[in-house]
Amino acid sequence: MSRPIFCQVSIAALQHNLQVAKRKAGAHKVWAVIKANAYGHGTAAAVQGFESADGLAMLDFSDAVLCRQLGWKKPILMLEGAFAPQDVQLALAQHLELIVHSHYQLEWLIKASPNRQASLPLKIKVNTGMNRLGFAPQDVQAVLQTVKDAKLSNQVTLVTHFANSDMSVADGLERPMVTPEQQLQAFVSAGGDLIAGSLTNSAAVLTEIQISHVLKAETQSEQGWMRPGIMLYGATPFGHRGAAQEGLKPAMVFGSKLIAVQHLKAGDQVGYGSRFTADKVMRIGIVACGYADGYPRHAPSGTPIAVNGQRTVTVGRVSMDMLMVDLTALPEADIGAAVQMWGDIVSVDEVAAAAGTIGYELLCAIATRVNRTVVN
Ligand SMILES: Cc1ncc(COP(=O)(O)O)c(C=O)c1O
Repeated sequence: MSRPIFCQVSIAALQHNLQVAKRKAGAHKVWAVIKANAYGHGTAAAVQGFESADGLAMLDFSDAVLCRQLGWKKPILMLEGAFAPQDVQLALAQHLELIVHSHYQLEWLIKASPNRQASLPLKIKVNTGMNRLGFAPQDVQAVLQTVKDAKLSNQVTLVTHFANSDMSVADGLERPMVTPEQQLQAFVSAGGDLIAGSLTNSAAVLTEIQISHVLKAETQSEQGWMRPGIMLYGATPFGHRGAAQEGLKPAMVFGSKLIAVQHLKAGDQVGYGSRFTADKVMRIGIVACGYADGYPRHAPSGTPIAVNGQRTVTVGRVSMDMLMVDLTALPEADIGAAVQMWGDIVSVDEVAAAAGTIGYELLCAIATRVNRTVVN
């Protein structure tokens, strides 16, 4: 018997979540964000699941080539633009749209063949307060002039990215942070068009109340594009609001089986570092899943997990290839019982919250040694 751990991706769930995003988007177009191997779900599965998206947005040029090979004919947006001069040539050959966030990328574009560049759609990234990528608002007009003078493109729009659209007053903000509203003002001051620009990630799509004016502006026009990522995979950027509440379905089941059972008496300890001590007679199960599979090592005892379709919790420290679960209330669960680390019974967001991280990180971290399947 091969090791029973698996990662199963549902095309139907990807399709469903895209429809949720499209409903929110109204007339406005959707870039399905598929960077990082489609948030760990697999680029090929994403191309299939997001067939009805208006475009795919990603980071790696090899992924863009793969998408074209898989038959994706609609727009592709490269979220960080060119990493090297040859990426500009690849973008021209493969009809990829480029974000331009720095002057060196403009120089590469200028050096590439001028006639062909006019057909290359460019998105100028505005740094509206996140201070990660993009031109300062006061520099944007000069950048646009350079683009115009060099006849770099006849399809130029401005884009930006929110730093805190996943935060709300409900989270109890502990310190001042740049708000979506402040970023919108900076975007507009740079000459950004709230209708034609692309601004909204999943949190901004989902928090209609917080930034309804962006959503409204973007949904009024077919020119506007949203850029949802995490919600398409059935997880959310919020700690306080679950994906199910948003009508989203988890697209990934990370599962395994029990490979051993132990009986503990009060005082017995479990695993490396003896981090868990039984305070009563207990039955625990050993799961074929560890941090070398992508399960977070820092998940503490008490992290939710499901056995035989029923929720229980982990006990002790996660090891490289195994973790332990409490079976005391699950007398039927024995060796071979099905375990769900995350999926439709236990959400990846719950596990992430217990482990002090976000669902994004867990979804992206499934190890290559885990057997992957795709189901319709
Ligand atoms: C530029 C950009 N747009 C959109 C997204 C999608 O964000 P999310 O997965 O939070 O929807 C990301 C992801 O980090 C991003 O970097």
